[in-house]
Amino acid sequence: MLTQAHLYQHNQRALQQDITAFDAQYRQFESHWVQGVMEALQDTDNESGCLNTVQDLVDAIDELVQVEANSESAAVDYVAQSMKREEFRILVQEFALDGLTEAQAFYFIMPRLPLAAQLPMLRILIDEFGSANPKRMHTTLYLNLLRELAMPLDRLHYVERIADSSFAFVNQFYWLTLRAEDPSYFAGAITYLESVIPFFFPCYVDACKRLGIAAHHYYSEHCHIDHFHALEGKRLLLAMAQEQCLDLEKAWYGVRFSQQITLDAFEQAVHKARTQKELQHAHSAA
Ligand SMILES: [Fe+2]
Ligand SMILES: [Fe+2]
Repeated sequence: MLTQAHLYQHNQRALQQDITAFDAQYRQFESHWVQGVMEALQDTDNESGCLNTVQDLVDAIDELVQVEANSESAAVDYVAQSMKREEFRILVQEFALDGLTEAQAFYFIMPRLPLAAQLPMLRILIDEFGSANPKRMHTTLYLNLLRELAMPLDRLHYVERIADSSFAFVNQFYWLTLRAEDPSYFAGAITYLESVIPFFFPCYVDACKRLGIAAHHYYSEHCHIDHFHALEGKRLLLAMAQEQCLDLEKAWYGVRFSQQITLDAFEQAVHKARTQKELQHAHSAA
């Protein structure tokens, strides 16, 4: 039976060899997964029918982010206040595949956007890649964190260890950029993520401070820069609307989809950290 881990590895093979050669059975697995999440979201959604303009969509995203920022989360509180260093290493492990390949899937959305909408996306990408300074790339910041925590730097190490929900977190970007039938899904998702991270990542910054982890920059940089990326996300939505290629409902479902996948990955990772307590088969830094 196929799993999110298989889908991830197929995505990687396709990216490195031939992106058009996406196997039918993986396509089916992926669309079944996405459809299942979307159908569950439809049952709980009372927003999509009320979106008439791009401003309505932007307001709905802001409102969703504010609700999330103000709501209590035992997992967030635990990370900020109580998570032990060994548990924190598990949390870092669960998001390592994303950190080690940060934003590389975003390239694939570019040719699917009208030129005016490519520009805000390009500005986001420039920051993700450290303005072409290798020391400031977000992936480098993750590598620094892994080094300080004496964890392996090799992506393949994590492919063998992370949970299905952590693979789904990475796989969402391949679906959103490459196979979602409309780029509006991606535009909604990226705007949501960039908007929510400055409210969500402070728990990691607090954990680093509390645990004496000096390589906190992966998290603290996102708290700073994603505030600006959220504005670029809104410019992306606006440009797409002006070019008449923004489907408001699909963008909103991109928001909700990404929220669901991200929250699930985070909750599961924190749960795994708390139950497993320490890394299994931990190696010293590569
Ligand atoms: Fe980033
Ligand atoms: Fe960002």
